[in-house]
Amino acid sequence: MLLLTIETTCDETAAAVVNDRLEVLSSVVASQDALHRRFGGVVPEIASRAHVERILPVIDEALRKAKVKLADLDAVAVANTPGLAGSLLVGLTAAKALCLACDLPLVAANHLQGNIYACRISGCRDVFPCIGLVVSGGHSNLYCCETPTDFTPLGGTIDDAAGEAFDKVASLLGLPYPGGPSVERIAREGDARKHRFPRPLLDDTDRLDFSFSGLKTAVRYLVVGTGKLGIESPSVKAGSFKNAHLTSADIAAAFQEAVIDCLIGKAELAIERTGYRTLCVGGGVAANGRFRKRLEESAAAKGYELFVPPLSLCTDNAVMGAIAIERLRAGKTEDLSLDIGPGPERAAVQG
Ligand code: KG4
Repeated sequence: MLLLTIETTCDETAAAVVNDRLEVLSSVVASQDALHRRFGGVVPEIASRAHVERILPVIDEALRKAKVKLADLDAVAVANTPGLAGSLLVGLTAAKALCLACDLPLVAANHLQGNIYACRISGCRDVFPCIGLVVSGGHSNLYCCETPTDFTPLGGTIDDAAGEAFDKVASLLGLPYPGGPSVERIAREGDARKHRFPRPLLDDTDRLDFSFSGLKTAVRYLVVGTGKLGIESPSVKAGSFKNAHLTSADIAAAFQEAVIDCLIGKAELAIERTGYRTLCVGGGVAANGRFRKRLEESAAAKGYELFVPPLSLCTDNAVMGAIAIERLRAGKTEDLSLDIGPGPERAAVQG
């Protein structure tokens, strides 16, 4: 079986061709980073307009690289939830048009489940049941993943997502967008022990939720002081912090360590509570080298099996849409009334 998968949940226009042995015949990702850089974050309207311009060339290129024609396909899969409404609509409309024109079945893919399924694809063997930790720009969710498509939320962020916190702290430190890779890069030169930021909710062992908003504010207070409304970016860029003994690198390293402590602490708690012995981590933040190293240390210390996809399958891509194979195998396809499911999927258990 040959599947064309389409991904336009946020700011990457992506298409891939995969088969039912989960072999990747092609993967094309058109990044919009350059368009959003000057705003320091994704501007939804710009994202959806860029998807409109890019979706057909990206699909064409994916088919060409895979050396397949539309007539060779057995189905079209599309990530229809969660994400930005305007962005999701572009991918879904393109997928529906192809299905209608070529008389192909349409299959829906959940983007977050796809993030975990990336571990199945790259691991080359079954990873279910597992604990799934999705850490991206819009999500920080923990799930019990019984099967590739049967996810039960265990917890999640009650405010900012981890990637969002990375992006905002990068902006605070005058680092370029996207913030996660910038913070990671500069943190390599810093000393995380120079400052200790809070680890919100980490001590609350009753819940598997995260909170990164206050941590971001703690960085801000350290950089510009309390009671100030505006941030004078140029002075921050020049490194003249309120606390002159601190450098951007030390702050970035200390912030990164605090985020990682929270993510790993709750993942370990989820493993302890459920008795599951496998952890699958996905999403853009899983591309962070320090996080990956700390996860490996945690897996070795606690004796669980860890799956983290290669970097190209952590940040947004269409390969993970191969999760649709699981629905196809179960005989499940969608009709053309399929809609988008926009907005973040909040798994936080409010308590
Ligand atoms: O999964 P993703 O590509 O897009 C969605 O949010 O759906 O994740 C993007 C997020 C951004 O917040 C970005 O700053 C973060 O992942 N990110 C990283 C790294 N690479 C990307 N965060 C920390 N370290 C990284 N190396």
